Amino acid sequence: MTNTGKDQPAPDNVLVTGGTGFIGTHLIDALIDRGENVTVIDNLSTSALKYLHPDAEFINQDIRDSNVTQLVKDLNPKTVYHLAAQASVAVSAREPLTDVNINVIGTLNLLEGIRDLPHSPRFIFFSTGGAIYGDLDPSALPASETIDAQPLSPYAVSKLAIENYLRAYGHLYDLNYTIVRPANVYGPRQNPDGEAGVIAIFTQAMLEGRQVTIFGDGNDQRDYIYISDFIDGVLTLANSDLPGPYNIGTGLGVSVNEIHQILSEFIDKAKPAKYGPPRPGDIPKIWLDISSAKKDFGWQANTSFQDGISKTVEWFRQAAS
Ligand SMILES: NC(=O)c1ccc[n+]([C@@H]2O[C@H](COP(=O)([O-])OP(=O)(O)OC[C@H]3O[C@@H](n4cnc5c(N)ncnc54)[C@H](O)[C@@H]3O)[C@@H](O)[C@H]2O)c1
Repeated sequence: MTNTGKDQPAPDNVLVTGGTGFIGTHLIDALIDRGENVTVIDNLSTSALKYLHPDAEFINQDIRDSNVTQLVKDLNPKTVYHLAAQASVAVSAREPLTDVNINVIGTLNLLEGIRDLPHSPRFIFFSTGGAIYGDLDPSALPASETIDAQPLSPYAVSKLAIENYLRAYGHLYDLNYTIVRPANVYGPRQNPDGEAGVIAIFTQAMLEGRQVTIFGDGNDQRDYIYISDFIDGVLTLANSDLPGPYNIGTGLGVSVNEIHQILSEFIDKAKPAKYGPPRPGDIPKIWLDISSAKKDFGWQANTSFQDGISKTVEWFRQAAS
């Protein structure tokens, strides 16, 4: 298609794939607050409609279906936030084909839809900061974006593949993209019934008086960022035209044992955790160097872990009542 776009009205809508999921509903609230028209594509495989902003238009669509390419062309968005994914390391380790079909083929279906659009939409891709770097020597932490990614799970391989496809699409078709490498995001609305999202899983279980299982010895450390800080970081990046990748996290490592202990301070009569075997594909220690986002945009997270946990517990408590 040769298209200068000169005769076409400028698009005014934003497409959010995976928009009914945890990060998606928070992102959409913020976008609609800013006056954006939002359309959502999601197949509701790990989410439901209950937290989706009523002003967002919802399309029930699996991104693995090739007809999503034409759908994206018809929607003609000015910005695409691509969140739809198989988002669990554990599931990817059991079902690498499911993972690659959603995370790679599904994403290419979308990219094929936007590559010839006259207005060259911004494409914001949610990669992974927690899994893409692999098992780093502690001396290499916090992990900087300049480190060679050495993924150890199919999930992280699929995210890195799309980062590389984006560079190729940028080179071949002038695709205007930004890669976000999120730390572990937590907060209200995170699904406590999945296999990813340890804070949601523990909070729900502990509020219900159930004993939680820690996989491994509990000394694994991750970088946990509160959802509102994360959304603030994403919107800051989306306003730029820099491709990244940018780590969006706190720069601090917190262990699973510490999470359990801090949650126990907020939840009465919490039971001691039991310990199970480590899960294949999990990385022992990772926290992110966030100095690039700070240097380029002046952005940094500002919610303490204690405050984020307190707000999260309060939300889960109210959701249960
Ligand atoms: N939450 C985190 O800590 C975190 C960390 C790093 C990266 N990410 C990435 O951010 C994105 C969003 O994560 P989240 O925590 O909101 O996860 P989530 O599971 O809550 O949201 C993912 C959404 O994608 C949808 N989806 C899954 N397969 C689909 C398909 N084939 N077609 C259409 N929709 C599909 C699900 O129904 C869900 O609504 C994902 O790409 C994930 O890999 C999240």
